[in-house]
Amino acid sequence: MIRSRAAAGVAVVALVVAGLSACGGVSVSRVDVPETFDAPLPVPPLAPSTVDADGTRTFSLTAQEGTTRFVPGVDTPTWGFDGDLLGPTLRASRGEQVAVEVRNTLPEATSVHWHGMHLPAAMDGGPHQPVEPGATWRPTWRVDQPAATLWYHPHPHGRTEEHVYRGLAGFFLLDDPAAADVGLPDEYGVDDVPVVVQDRKLDADGDLDLSGGGELGVLGSLVTANGVRGAYLEATTQRVRLRLLNGSTARTYAFGFADDREVLQVASDGGLLPAPVPTTRVQLSPGERAEVVVTVSPGERVRLRSYPPDLGRVVAAFAMGANDTFDVLELRAAQDLAPSPPVAGALTTLEPLPEATVTRTFDLQGRQINGRRMDMDRVDATVEKGATELWEVRNLDLFPHNFHVHDVQFRVLDIDGEAPPPALAGAKDTVYLEPRRTYRLVMRFEDHADPTTPYMFHCHLLLHEDEGLMGQLVVVEPGGTAAPAPHDHH
Ligand code: C2O
Ligand code: CU
Repeated sequence: MIRSRAAAGVAVVALVVAGLSACGGVSVSRVDVPETFDAPLPVPPLAPSTVDADGTRTFSLTAQEGTTRFVPGVDTPTWGFDGDLLGPTLRASRGEQVAVEVRNTLPEATSVHWHGMHLPAAMDGGPHQPVEPGATWRPTWRVDQPAATLWYHPHPHGRTEEHVYRGLAGFFLLDDPAAADVGLPDEYGVDDVPVVVQDRKLDADGDLDLSGGGELGVLGSLVTANGVRGAYLEATTQRVRLRLLNGSTARTYAFGFADDREVLQVASDGGLLPAPVPTTRVQLSPGERAEVVVTVSPGERVRLRSYPPDLGRVVAAFAMGANDTFDVLELRAAQDLAPSPPVAGALTTLEPLPEATVTRTFDLQGRQINGRRMDMDRVDATVEKGATELWEVRNLDLFPHNFHVHDVQFRVLDIDGEAPPPALAGAKDTVYLEPRRTYRLVMRFEDHADPTTPYMFHCHLLLHEDEGLMGQLVVVEPGGTAAPAPHDHH
């Protein structure tokens, strides 16, 4: 718990935040949107890096304590990387060797996981790679996957929800210099803008509040874009590419524009879609990303909105955020817009996946997968290097889950036997699981065998993950066996 809701409020502060906390009841979700969107959207700075003689590009990230003013006059204690909240954008190219010096100046152990990255398990930053207070951890790996919008966040055992909620998260963008130019806006912070959307709740003292969540965890009434409530982005070009990340712990968004204009979704979690998908809604559950290209007219203002998400056959939808509509970000187009190139009709070719040779079933229920909670000392799946596997994943509950697999980008083969919608047909590492449906996912474990170190797969509703809805997979050489190093309980 960050701060107990029972703590006595300070009168003045309580008045200021009353509007936000009054609706912080146990299960009915509501979002408070400011009257005006007049705070400039902060664009996370690109993280500096150094390239040493052997070509390794090294970044550094320091997890630290700070304060953030989500609400005027209220300083809320938060955590960030190299700052008070969130973190800089790491950016690297396919083929590069990268390293990150991760320093922890927090009062407790954390970790940094590279969500969506294909890399050795020992570099993955999951619960087996804690960074103790005062310590530095330096993972290094070669970037070997298509251009994509990835992200990083802590993954400490049982504490992920709180660490992300406090503010630890950032983008990790991958470029592919060999990829064809398909006309996507690409000037960082100008017409190519990362936007992480998160919801939080403050208590009467203005502290972050994780208490009183329902089945999904906390659905906050305070929604931010890049950490700011009521933000606007000035558009200076005809087309703007938004790299949307759902960095929330529990809430699912269905993004669209207030006038229902069509946008082009050009990428999903793991990179470009085969062709742009014209759409008015882009639904993202926690951890998912989408890149969209939106066209604006000179001088106009239009808001990015979250509409009621289609969560499937859930019970008590009102308590799952399924009735919520709220604005997230305003686009303000300049009178003179610089021309943007047209987006190509074909963006990439997805590699055909070989026929799967192994099939596994994962039933999600409550906080368990196949009847078991996460155990740091149990290997749930031993995968042979080079194998293509078919994972049948089912949500047996009548409330939302989603499913994230480390190390790989998978493809959704079908949902209850039907081909996935175009937005889900590309490279994915996280997928929403509607209640009572079966998602067949195909994935290939190309390399990085390490019998001693597990990767995680789990629900990315972080309360569920922390409470046990997670399992471990180990990649071994063909014929090998998993022999995880005994993990030290502390
Ligand atoms: Cu984004 Cu295992 O997490
Ligand atoms: Cu879940």
